[in-house]
Amino acid sequence: MHAEKSFVSFPADGAHLPTDEMTDLLKLLEPQEIRELQSRALSEIARASSAADVESLRVRYLGRKGLIKQATNRLGKAPPEQRPGLGRLINEARQTIEEALKPKTFAKPEKKRPPFDLTLPARRAAGSGLHPITQTIEAVKDIFLRLGFEVAYGPEVELDYYNFEALNIPEDHPAREAFDTFFLHDDVLLRSQTSTVQIRVMEKRQPPIRVIAPGKVYRPDTVDATHSFLFHQVEGLVVDEGVTMADLKYVLHEFAREFYGPDVRMRFRPYFFPFTEPSVEVDISCYACKGDGCWLCKGAGWIEILGAGMVDPTVFRYVGYDAERYTGFAFGMGVERIAMLKHGIDDIRLFLENDLRFLQQF
Ligand code: PHE
Repeated sequence: MHAEKSFVSFPADGAHLPTDEMTDLLKLLEPQEIRELQSRALSEIARASSAADVESLRVRYLGRKGLIKQATNRLGKAPPEQRPGLGRLINEARQTIEEALKPKTFAKPEKKRPPFDLTLPARRAAGSGLHPITQTIEAVKDIFLRLGFEVAYGPEVELDYYNFEALNIPEDHPAREAFDTFFLHDDVLLRSQTSTVQIRVMEKRQPPIRVIAPGKVYRPDTVDATHSFLFHQVEGLVVDEGVTMADLKYVLHEFAREFYGPDVRMRFRPYFFPFTEPSVEVDISCYACKGDGCWLCKGAGWIEILGAGMVDPTVFRYVGYDAERYTGFAFGMGVERIAMLKHGIDDIRLFLENDLRFLQQF
């Protein structure tokens, strides 16, 4: 029989078989040809490197006009006794090729993505940080730690005894009225000052004592630009033999210079607190106008930042200290106050409103 060349159709993507791989439809089907077809398919599948390659191999071998189909079509021309054997070989080849294509066929098609733009600015993580009040307390702590102080804490839910009685605040003092203090029970309240921690520290320890006590205090004040029902104080207490008012002035001056800058001036005004004697209120020169008078200091040139004084001997008697042997000083500053003065914040409510436009400035 004369062989007549016939051209097999190939996928439209232009993949051509080399001439020696062309299948002659008229040629007698031989087992060897089927085996070669199979091993050629397997090695081509192994080399396929893209989903498009895999797809064109699948069409070429298993497609409707593919090489397996062509071989099957020629089966009819084979001698009848060879047909079952050849048919089995073709079947085996088809299954083997299908198996080989399976893991590849389902490989993800390559996506044509626009290349990643390396010049895009990085997306910033949402800002987080410490609340300005926390930052202020940390700054105050830092300064006093360097001056040799320790840090102590006391409860915010407090007994009347620590908030008033042991601090020599008499029964009929207005601070003990319900309108000045949040009472929870008869003698349980939300502390209105951190001076409570003075008593708690002295009850537990003997002099020498050098502590600061930061924390929250509560007063049922009507909220406005300078008042809040909740604010923070930092209490200070020093007790030892021979402590004088000069020590108080030195320590507070050091604090003010560290916190507000070397040019700050300080003045002590006589005042009254039940638990200190003598007592003072301490002002600093207005940092905004340097003492000339401005909106911040309401024209005064000075701004009050804390109350202080020498510990009253009556307080020492409450905690069992020998008032003849020991003297001490105490002070209490408002944290919101000193933060507002430092940063020029004109409304105390900003600290509690959680407005990110405010908080992100710190
Ligand atoms: N506890 C006082 C207040 O809240 C401040 C103070 C503390 C005064 C310590 C003197 C000594 O106003």
